[in-house]
Amino acid sequence: MKKTILSAKNVQKTFSDNGVQVHVLSNVNAEIYAGDFTVIMGASGSGKSTLLYALSGMDKATAGEVLFYGEEDAPVDLTTLKETKLAALRVRDFGFVFQQMHLVSNLTLFENVAVTGYLDKRKSASETRAKAEELLDRVGLKEVKTHLPARVSGGEQQRCAIVRAVINSPTLLFADEPTGALNRNNTKEVLNLLTELNDGGQSIVMVTHDIKAALRANRLLYLEDGNIVGELELTKYGETDAGGEKIQSDKAREAQVNAWLESLDW
Ligand SMILES: Nc1ncnc2c1ncn2[C@@H]1O[C@H](COP(=O)(O)OP(=O)(O)O)[C@@H](O)[C@H]1O
Ligand SMILES: [Mg+2]
Repeated sequence: MKKTILSAKNVQKTFSDNGVQVHVLSNVNAEIYAGDFTVIMGASGSGKSTLLYALSGMDKATAGEVLFYGEEDAPVDLTTLKETKLAALRVRDFGFVFQQMHLVSNLTLFENVAVTGYLDKRKSASETRAKAEELLDRVGLKEVKTHLPARVSGGEQQRCAIVRAVINSPTLLFADEPTGALNRNNTKEVLNLLTELNDGGQSIVMVTHDIKAALRANRLLYLEDGNIVGELELTKYGETDAGGEKIQSDKAREAQVNAWLESLDW
């Protein structure tokens, strides 16, 4: 049995645009499970980012519940949680990666990561610095960690942004089109890093409209007209059998995801 981390119940989001009500999420019901690499797909403008912001407590749903099952016995509802508690929860339990990396331009890569670590009072400053060093080293940024973001490639910036997002060992890592601004090589590096993190147990929820990125998921959700209208369960990306053979070839996986997307009029 998979453990639920997040549970969205009848989530609605309405924006008021010059007095006109725009219903972006009409009635979203979705479960996010521990250990999964969940991908949310859907046409441009279907509300994927809006849903991700509602799930991560960055923005409040207009109606419905977003239940987070953390360390406490009972789940907390992000839609009614006090702002101070929500802010603390976001520091400890959620990491977020954006399409535009949003690194602080006048801080080095190392400082970008460390500053987020300092917000988490469970670690001392020296523990945070050691962890930042270790993570930057692990993702191949050791040589460039004292550079400002503008001096490194987009892929390096995004890997740094991912390290920043996981420095506090979040329960859940959210990513909104993290490869959307990257070229092929950098995309692959970033997807490999996300896959590696998930293999190490990191739960991930990623929005993408890139099929290559979607193939990394073991669970896919499809958003249309503000509702989840499709779900697909896959094996873990690259999972092997006892003999070390891939359970599913990349080609077969792509065909399976494409067939699913076609059935949804993607
Ligand atoms: N703050 C906002 N005010 C008004 N409308 C918004 C706002 N944010 C998003 N929308 C609208 O909600 C719809 C979904 O947006 P979004 O969640 O960004 O879609 P996606 O990420 O799937 O492309 C779009 O039509 C967009 O114009
Ligand atoms: Mg979006």
